[in-house]
Amino acid sequence: MRSMQDDIAKILLHESTILARLDELAYQITQDYREKPLTVIGILNGSCLFLADLLRRIPIPLQIDCLSIASYHGGLESSGAVAFRQSELPNVAGRHVLLVDDILDTGVTLHVVCEKIGSLEPLSLRTCVLLKKDVPRKAEFDADYVGFAIPNEFVVGYGLDYQQHYRNLPFIGVLSEEAISNPSKV
Ligand code: XMP
Repeated sequence: MRSMQDDIAKILLHESTILARLDELAYQITQDYREKPLTVIGILNGSCLFLADLLRRIPIPLQIDCLSIASYHGGLESSGAVAFRQSELPNVAGRHVLLVDDILDTGVTLHVVCEKIGSLEPLSLRTCVLLKKDVPRKAEFDADYVGFAIPNEFVVGYGLDYQQHYRNLPFIGVLSEEAISNPSKV
């Protein structure tokens, strides 16, 4: 059987590199939100590993919520359509909100989510992404906290998937052409 590692053409970010950068991001976020009522909202599923590792490094009181969003539909291209899967949105009245997502690509997802959460009138709204792809954005958007800028390649691992696979790889890598054209059936 093919292993997940066999499908990776090249590793872009090793686990140690990711975690060292998370120390820096977490330190910055801790300084910015000390003594403030903070709710961190993770965008599922892609941000789950990033969110868990980041929040463990932020030693101030905060609340955690998640939004289940469908935007990529398992392929290589962003569909441009963003669907909220849950009926109830987090209660952010009187709280500062930090949205956490895996990757800023076309910008459509975070643009739509920010509009939705912004309409709930939190005290403030900022965004944090692990990766920012070097592409022209379809939606005018930039993130407030960025882990790494990466080239325009389809990446998997550390929460990111191709057809729901590879999320549990501890590093971020570029998927091989072969794995893209012949996806795992497991
Ligand atoms: P945008 O910014 O285009 O991003 O709205 C939407 C979502 O698309 C996913 N995405 C990727 N997933 N490898 C992935 O596994 C990628 O290279 C990639 N680029 C975008 C991701 O879930 C993001 O939140």
